[in-house]
Amino acid sequence: MKILVAGGAGYIGSVLIPKLLERGYEVDVIDLFWFGNNLPGKVGIINKDIFHLEENDVKGYDQVIFLAGLSNDPMAEYSPAENFVSNGSAPPYLAYIAKKAGVRRFIYAGSCSVYGYTVNELYDETCPAVSSYPYGISKLQGETAVLQMMDKNFSVIAFRQGTVSGYSPRMRLDLVVNTMFKFALTDGAITVNNPAIWRPVLAIQDAATAYIRAIESNEEISGIFNIASGNYTVGEIGDLVHSGVKKYLDKDVKLNIKHIQDYRNYKVSIEKAKKVLSFHPKHDVETIIEDLVENREKFQDFNNPVYYNIQVFKKISKK
Ligand SMILES: NC(=O)c1ccc[n+]([C@@H]2O[C@H](COP(=O)([O-])OP(=O)(O)OC[C@H]3O[C@@H](n4cnc5c(N)ncnc54)[C@H](O)[C@@H]3O)[C@@H](O)[C@H]2O)c1
Repeated sequence: MKILVAGGAGYIGSVLIPKLLERGYEVDVIDLFWFGNNLPGKVGIINKDIFHLEENDVKGYDQVIFLAGLSNDPMAEYSPAENFVSNGSAPPYLAYIAKKAGVRRFIYAGSCSVYGYTVNELYDETCPAVSSYPYGISKLQGETAVLQMMDKNFSVIAFRQGTVSGYSPRMRLDLVVNTMFKFALTDGAITVNNPAIWRPVLAIQDAATAYIRAIESNEEISGIFNIASGNYTVGEIGDLVHSGVKKYLDKDVKLNIKHIQDYRNYKVSIEKAKKVLSFHPKHDVETIIEDLVENREKFQDFNNPVYYNIQVFKKISKK
């Protein structure tokens, strides 16, 4: 099978793609390489903007995966105009040319951010998706538009992923568990902005498994799937990072608990992904911390701007 991964040089793609190669798939990546290239040599590289692809460029692929766009709130808020183009329009443009070129399946990296601020309810895919901030709105735009194209010859699988964390060869230190781990090591303190807020957390290894399950699922399957390893309050994540660095690194760190209002609060059910895709997460926040501890030598240059999407984006943004 031949797969094209748009945005495959990013944080998730850099863990997923070696696994796809191991399974014998032929993989090409189209990417602007904002954060460098940490992919294995066996991957075909297309250094281009998605908007510069044409129908002919996507001929011959069996599946296309979208992992591109602006991937967090600070980037989206820094340049809302660029955000709505990148996250709202690039996915349907790519799905549109892929479908015309005869690609059989499109997999979209969406986000649980679409749920916005919910109050103490476990959300499944039928619950209202109502967010009021640019990232959440644009991820829903992308999702809605790509799903519109599904039919019996073109499967569309849209993930709503929790906050991904853990080690990737293209590392990010701006994701909740990774950020707390970094501050525990650099400042000897973890700041919890609001301990009551709920977040689904997705271990990066489980994220890669979810894409593999989607790629390998029956072609008749399409739809929206919540994908997470588990639901946690941010307060609990802080406690787990605190006890993890004590357990593995014998380091005592301080916990600063604040009560800052947040506009995102949600916990999600992954029953549909379990039932339909056979997605069974194997990780949790504790194993994410183990993963970070094991790989910590590889991202010791904590101030490298490449680990913080907003720092790179401010330099390259068209704003
Ligand atoms: N990381 C998370 O916690 C998380 C959670 C939910 C959803 N998602 C979604 O998953 C996807 C991947 O996330 P990530 O953390 O790997 O992102 P990332 O920021 O690490 O990587 C994104 C990649 O896309 C490329 N890119 C962006 N716009 C492009 C364009 N127009 N043409 C070609 N390449 C382009 C960038 O160069 C980069 O390599 C994103 O769509 C994000 O919104 C991520």
